[in-house]
Amino acid sequence: MSSPRKSRDPKTLRPATQLVHGGTLRSQFEETSEAIFLTQGYLYDTMEQAEARFKGETPGFIYSRFANPTVAMFEKRMALLEGAEAARATATGMAAVTAALMGQVKAGDHVVAAKALFGSCLYVVEDLLPRFGVASTLVDGADLDAWRKAMRPNTKTCFIESPTNPTLALVDIAEVAKIAHAGGATLVVDNVFATPMLQHPLKLGADVVVYSATKHVDGQGRVLGGVILASEKFIADHIHNFLRQTGPSLSAFNAWVMLKGLETLPIRVERQQRSAAQIADFLAAAPGVTRVLYPGRADHPQFALAKKQMTGGGTLVAFEVEGGKAGAFAFANALSIIGISNNLGDAKSLITHPETTTHQRLKPEQRAELGINSGLLRLSVGLEDPDDLVEDIAHALSQAHPAAKAAE
Ligand SMILES: Cc1ncc(COP(=O)(O)O)c(C=O)c1O
Repeated sequence: MSSPRKSRDPKTLRPATQLVHGGTLRSQFEETSEAIFLTQGYLYDTMEQAEARFKGETPGFIYSRFANPTVAMFEKRMALLEGAEAARATATGMAAVTAALMGQVKAGDHVVAAKALFGSCLYVVEDLLPRFGVASTLVDGADLDAWRKAMRPNTKTCFIESPTNPTLALVDIAEVAKIAHAGGATLVVDNVFATPMLQHPLKLGADVVVYSATKHVDGQGRVLGGVILASEKFIADHIHNFLRQTGPSLSAFNAWVMLKGLETLPIRVERQQRSAAQIADFLAAAPGVTRVLYPGRADHPQFALAKKQMTGGGTLVAFEVEGGKAGAFAFANALSIIGISNNLGDAKSLITHPETTTHQRLKPEQRAELGINSGLLRLSVGLEDPDDLVEDIAHALSQAHPAAKAAE
């Protein structure tokens, strides 16, 4: 690796510049675009060098399950953006969540999490951790007294996502961080819905941020990935060895796709957010739509909190249509540009019916408590012209309305 030109400390650069240049490692060929190092292992000049590297006495790569140059570039770039001391990439967002939680706890510990979590995250907290002797308590994320009451002397960590999937409810990150810290616990934030552009959990007091990089970071629906961001100490104490020994490593190819995704993240999120706000306003006035949930609108139940901890409303809109499941299905089936998919953060606009897909495994009473009812749809707004998206939605609503009415 060489870097002959003088370069500025990337920490002093603005995010858009960090996302193009930050973390770049150049080979002896001085390539402009980041190289993909598709290699499992690395050569040592001597046996002595191999020994020293394994002992951690000299820097260098050992094996791509532990670290890889392309993956290292992605980690460095994400750490710069997030303002984190360290980052570790994982094969998926779920591998990041699992490692961030499992890496910290042992049998006899306790975890507190918000009830409104992505289904697989709920599985880790509710089903997996208790199987290994780690008790968990789920609370209403917005109820700070419930957080305080749930804390126990053995509570090791608290876990939230904000905005939540799929109702876009918010959790006060700064306040929950204070409660966690007062009880000697850490706070882990799944920041997928806000994206690294619109919310900075570490600055708000969280200890760990996790992402499904599968979503906005790639942003073009290609590869899976995840990342854990925290202090050097947290990564060294809880994450480094867990990932190295259990092996949910990000592939070099996927890291390269993510690096290229990061270059355009600010402009994509800015454009998608602007379109989401336009669509939310359209939906709020549209016949056949009974409720719109968008953190950037003044009628969002937690608009004040959104303004406090986010710099924008985000790229997702949740809304309810008349006619319950039949109305929602009729509407989504009548769309022609917006695709039906449970994915999000993509250049293509995607819509899902959480009750029957992402949140199907929840008990009906859990869904009712979270406001996931039969007419609810979650729209991930893409990069298409927003006027085409509005026309698509307006047309589908006009088609679905009779079906919705008939189902009532
Ligand atoms: C909020 C949230 N967290 C975590 C994940 C898991 O990410 P991945 O699919 O990359 O494992 C998702 C995926 O949909 C998500 O929406």
